[in-house]
This record gives sequence, structure tokens and C-alpha cells, in this order.
Amino acid sequence: MASKIRLDRFLSESGYGTRKEVKQMIKKGIVEVNSVSAKDPSFKVDPEKDSVTVEGEDVFHTDEFYIMLNKPEGYITSTKDRELTVMELICDIPRFENLFPVGRLDKDTTGLLLITNDGELAHRLTHPKWKVPKVYIATVKGKLSEKEIEKLEKGINLGDFVTKPAKVKVITEEETTSEVEIEIKEGKYHQVKRMFEKVGHPVIKLRRTSFGPLKLGNLPEGEYRFLTDKEIEKLKRATGLLP
Ligand code: URA
Repeated sequence: MASKIRLDRFLSESGYGTRKEVKQMIKKGIVEVNSVSAKDPSFKVDPEKDSVTVEGEDVFHTDEFYIMLNKPEGYITSTKDRELTVMELICDIPRFENLFPVGRLDKDTTGLLLITNDGELAHRLTHPKWKVPKVYIATVKGKLSEKEIEKLEKGINLGDFVTKPAKVKVITEEETTSEVEIEIKEGKYHQVKRMFEKVGHPVIKLRRTSFGPLKLGNLPEGEYRFLTDKEIEKLKRATGLLP
């Protein structure tokens, strides 16, 4: 038997925003439980029996969790490690022990990390067959020449493999560093860092800003939110799970 949960948690798990955002929605008076306005975020609802609406639209709650985390530096992308893992940042989610990160970001890489309990989707999102694009902003040493950009874009021999075509765009150039956006459709170990290293511009900072159809947007570092139904649909479409 499903137990009752707080209204703010119910809405957040259903993709309506962070806990802070949904609390504001509830206080605004746009949320109804069984056709009665509910202004208390701690109000308890039964996900199986109660009908919840936001501005008159039905809210659907499921057991499959799809979470976007803005990973800060210093956390290991793993479910278990001797060091601090990304799971510490989502441990207030019920049954978070069943969730796992999709792919990995290095300990010092920040940005968009998807966490779910949907094994099939996770498998597809990381499988080379689906060529899911990932966008990173890298702060690198020095300035890239046209030739170096071309090398990165065409494919570069990293010894154990040759990278597939990538898109590269210089965003800013400072005296000794540059900020460069790079899109790759594969995800080999330390790939972005190794690519820039190879053309003589070691990465100083790395942040992932998008993953397939998902954008990090203005989600604060260290915070997470549940994906919306539309975002989940797009991910499934990108990996052949929906037509
Ligand atoms: N490429 C890297 O080098 N590091 C990451 O964390 C992700 C992509």
C-alpha cells in the first residue's frame, strides 16, 4: 500500500520544479487536492487515490524517477565510493538507493548529470548507437588556432581511439585562457580533457551544459530537480523508446 507524502514532494517528483519552487506555487493557491485549494506544502496526499491539479491540469505521479542534478566539484559520480558521491546530494529522495547516475562526470567536472532508476533508458543514453550529444563549456589554457579547432572538430587520435566529429565554438578569449563550447556524441573516459590536452590546451575547468535534449538552464549548483513529462518524452524519443 502506498503511503501518503507531502504535497510539495509530490509536485516536485512529478516534474513541477525544485522543492523551493513548488512551495511557492502551492502558496500562490494554484494547486488543488480533490478540487479543494491546498496552500500548505506539508499537506499529505495519497499518490494512488488523491487527485492533484495545478492551474486545473491533472498531475501524474510515477515510480520512475528522472532527475537532473547540477553536480558541483568534489563529488564522485558513483553510487558507492570511499569518497563523497553525487548520491549525497539527492539522499532526501525516497528510495534514492535505487537510483543511479547516467554516465559519469569527473570529480572536478560540474554541471548536468542525469540520475534515474530507469535502466533501459540509462543504457540507451550511454550507448554509442544512439549518438546522444553532450555539450560542455571548457575553460582551457591559451587560445585555440583555426587549425586546432579543425582538428578537434574532424576527429583526433588519442592513442587508443580516434574521436568522432565534434562541434567547437570559442566563446571568450582572455589573456591566458579561453572559454570553449564543445559538443561530442560519445563519452569515453576523460574524453574532453584528453582532446584539449592533445591540441596543447589543457582544461582548467569543465562544465556540462546539456545532455541530449536536456539543458541545465539556471538550476543552481548542488541542486536537483525532477524532469518534466515533456523532457522524459524527448529523452525516450532520442533513444528510440518512443516513436
Ligand atoms: N570529459 C572529461 O574529460 N571529463 C568529464 O567529466 C566529462 C567529459
